[in-house]
Amino acid sequence: MELNLAGKRAVVTGAGSGIGREIATRFSGVGAAVAVCDVVKDAADKVAADLSGKGGRAEAYAVDVSDFAAVQQLCERIAADLGGIDILVNNAGITRDNLLLRMTEAEFDRVIAVNLKGTFNFTKACFRGLMKNRWGRIINIASVIGQMGNAGQANYAAAKAGIIGLTKSTARELASRNVTVNAIAPGYIATAMTEKLDTAAREAYIAAIPLKRAGTPADVADVCLFLASDLASYVTGQVLRVDGGLLM
Ligand SMILES: NC(=O)c1ccc[n+]([C@@H]2O[C@H](COP(=O)([O-])OP(=O)(O)OC[C@H]3O[C@@H](n4cnc5c(N)ncnc54)[C@H](O)[C@@H]3O)[C@@H](O)[C@H]2O)c1
Repeated sequence: MELNLAGKRAVVTGAGSGIGREIATRFSGVGAAVAVCDVVKDAADKVAADLSGKGGRAEAYAVDVSDFAAVQQLCERIAADLGGIDILVNNAGITRDNLLLRMTEAEFDRVIAVNLKGTFNFTKACFRGLMKNRWGRIINIASVIGQMGNAGQANYAAAKAGIIGLTKSTARELASRNVTVNAIAPGYIATAMTEKLDTAAREAYIAAIPLKRAGTPADVADVCLFLASDLASYVTGQVLRVDGGLLM
């Protein structure tokens, strides 16, 4: 058994930047064909071109993960282009932070639509194919905030906690077909998403992390690769925290 994805076809959402880009890059580096999906078309194009330039097989697809019909169509297209889908990484996510007192309905709805509904949309679109395939991996990128809660992130925490419930239910439904379904709960990772934080908030986060540093997209991508590989064949329905010990 090894960390090799040769011959596997992987779909990574939100792969145009940050953690998703790193996951797509790691997967491509060990032989997977990768469908690079992002709502920002240029970003997806750039990542796919980069991976192709390094000798991998990668295709870019522009999609808003919250659009159910578009996602169903897209997954049919990806399966036709790559010859099937073996691995799905639901990584696309956004924040719209506000204290509940000030949080608007639109802020709540959009965060649920992208993070939680988007994960459902891709899972649903790939479900039948993975069942028939009799080998598969779904890896959902949740967050430690879905387990801890966070002032100012009620929408995001609810969406990420929802992803954990979705993960465990899907794991039970797909286990007999040799498809594992797990979630990763990253802590504080240095990406565009966390760049918005001011220096004081960033320092407060790092002070609370036992390993005393922010995580990198590579820290998350390494664990994602492990879960996608044959090394993790007997792991399903789990939430793996990649947070430097923030929550124990
Ligand atoms: N950065 C962190 O500290 C952290 C911590 C825990 C969890 N996460 C989760 O990791 C995932 C990746 O986040 P990141 O830090 O790399 O952020 P990021 O903003 O760098 O990347 C998110 C990507 O998702 C894409 N995206 C946004 N909305 C989309 C939509 N509707 N349809 C398709 N693509 C869309 C963006 O264009 C972007 O390329 C998210 O689910 C996030 O919630 C991040």
